[in-house]
Amino acid sequence: MSLQLDARQRAMLQEMGIRVFWPEATPVDLSMQGQVEETEAIAVEVAPVEVRPAARSPEPVAVRAERPVALPTPLRPDAPPRQRMPGIEAMQWEALGEAVATCRACGLCEGRHNTVFGVGDLHPDWLIVGEAPGENEDREGEPFVGQAGKLLDNMLAALSLSRHQRVYIANVLKCRPPGNRNPEPQEIAQCEPFLRRQVELLQPKIILAMGRFAVQTLLQSNEPIGRLRGRVHDYNGVPVVVTYHPAYLLRNLPDKAKAWADLCLAQGVLRGSST
Ligand code: URA
Repeated sequence: MSLQLDARQRAMLQEMGIRVFWPEATPVDLSMQGQVEETEAIAVEVAPVEVRPAARSPEPVAVRAERPVALPTPLRPDAPPRQRMPGIEAMQWEALGEAVATCRACGLCEGRHNTVFGVGDLHPDWLIVGEAPGENEDREGEPFVGQAGKLLDNMLAALSLSRHQRVYIANVLKCRPPGNRNPEPQEIAQCEPFLRRQVELLQPKIILAMGRFAVQTLLQSNEPIGRLRGRVHDYNGVPVVVTYHPAYLLRNLPDKAKAWADLCLAQGVLRGSST
C-alpha cells in the first residue's frame, strides 16, 4: 500500500518518531513544515488482515484491574440512588448525549465538572476509543485535549485526518475517575451501554481501541495489547484495531513506531472495506 505524504504529514511522522526515507534516504526536513506542499509516495507495510470475531457477552464488562484502585466515592446521604438509565439501546444521538450529561449510574458523577460524551464527525470512518476523561477533559467537556490529545491529533494529521473530519473520538468512561485512577469494573459496566449505542449510531468503518481499558471493554479480553495488536478484531460487526494509549506512548517513545504500524493497519482495513 502507498500513502501520499505532504511536508506537514512527514513532520507529524517525525514527531511520532517515524523516519520516512523515499525515494532517497533523506530524513524529514522540519524547516519545510507548512511551506512546501509536495507529495511523495512511501511504501507502508501492512500485514495481511485476519478478522477474528471477539467473543461477545451481553453481561456487564468485567475488567481485571492490574493496579490498585481507589474505593468508589461514597454516596452523600441526600444523593439520589444509583441506577442504570433505562432504554439506552433505543436512544437517538441527542437523547443519548442528554442521558450521559445527566447520568448518575455510578459514583463518578459526584466529582465531575463535565461529562465527556465525545467529539467529531457524526458520519465517521474512524471511531477512536480511549479510556476516560482526565483533568483537562473534565474541565473542557471534550476528549483528549491534554498532552496525550496533542499526540493523538498529530497521529491523525499524519493520516490527513482530524478530530473533526472522518473521525469521532469517545472514551469508555464519560466521567473522570478521581486523581486519574484506573476505571473500576462496575464503572465500566455502567458506562459501556453508552459506548455501545454510540457505535450503533455512528456506524464507523473502523474502531481504533487505544489502551488497555478500551481494548478490554470492546474485545472482552484480558490479553495484553502487545498480543492483540497487529490483527483485526470485531466489535458487533465493526472491525477493531488495537493500539497503545497515547499517554503510554508519551512515556514509551520507541513504541510510537508500533502505534504508527497499527494506524497503517487500520487505514489498510478501511481502504479494503471501501473498495
Ligand atoms: N485519556 C483518555 O483515555 N481519554 C481522554 O479523553 C483523555 C486522556
